[in-house]
Amino acid sequence: MRIIRTAVEMRDAVEPARNDGVVVGLVPTMGALHAGHLALVRRARLDCGLVVVSLFVNPTQFNANEDFDSYPRNEAHDLELLERNGVDIVYAPTAAEMYPDGFGVTVTVTGLTEGLCGARRPGHFDGVTTVVSKLFAHCRPDAAYFGEKDYQQLKVVERMVLDLDLSIRIVGIPVVRERDGLALSSRNAYLNVYERRIAPALQDTMRAVAGRLSGDVELEAQCRWGRDALLAAGFDEVDYFEIRDSKTLQSVEACRPGLRVFVAAWLRETRLIDNVAVDEVE
Ligand code: PAJ
Repeated sequence: MRIIRTAVEMRDAVEPARNDGVVVGLVPTMGALHAGHLALVRRARLDCGLVVVSLFVNPTQFNANEDFDSYPRNEAHDLELLERNGVDIVYAPTAAEMYPDGFGVTVTVTGLTEGLCGARRPGHFDGVTTVVSKLFAHCRPDAAYFGEKDYQQLKVVERMVLDLDLSIRIVGIPVVRERDGLALSSRNAYLNVYERRIAPALQDTMRAVAGRLSGDVELEAQCRWGRDALLAAGFDEVDYFEIRDSKTLQSVEACRPGLRVFVAAWLRETRLIDNVAVDEVE
């Protein structure tokens, strides 16, 4: 497994494979890897002849009051996991390599970024689309793998690729969960024992709401119920509890196929997000 830290070296490393018609797959991550990330890696390994995983905690997608400094970092452990999962190249650039002095470009996707996490984390998706554009330029993948855990991010990246005419296939991977239903996340490491016991209420509540959606139920009332249920379970604050169209992420008035429940809520200092397709809940 090769470890590469500069854009030039990265481009040179994929060039021969591309010329030989080898399919290049990229899995962008911020490290602190867990089984959710590894599901993306395994899928890339199945699909592609050359698998690149990027490790870069991207400063531009964190707001000033967010957890950039404390975000978990453990490169040695990440490298070990990636090696064991048959990754060919790890791309781990420095911040100075990604954002040299005078850096002045921001990639913005409009529309899809306006609600949900976009409304709560101003500038977050600009940071994501800017860094993902650069990772695409450096690694030149044929396919890139993103988790449905960050469903809005997945849709935003799909839109960016479509609108910029990038010939990169974006592959979405279902959410990997703990046994009790909590979606795996690098931020779960912040939870203390007490908070960890409350956390599965996120998915339980979403599924309860999804299970109640049929006929002429009022969606807004269901979301209010979900929000209250999370607060009653011990969450300290709910950023949003919403039902939206899975494809367009538009708000919806009435029950119909193709909907998804989206939630973001706080346990003390830790913000957790999750989502579930209504049609998948019995
Ligand atoms: P990060 O949070 O490290 O996640 C990297 C990828 O792993 C994302 O596509 C995310 O959706 C996916 N992922 C995380 N937890 C998952 C789970 N439980 N099940 C399935 N997939 C999961 O998302 C980012 O990094 C960054 O925004 C990035 C795209 C790398 C740009 O900086």
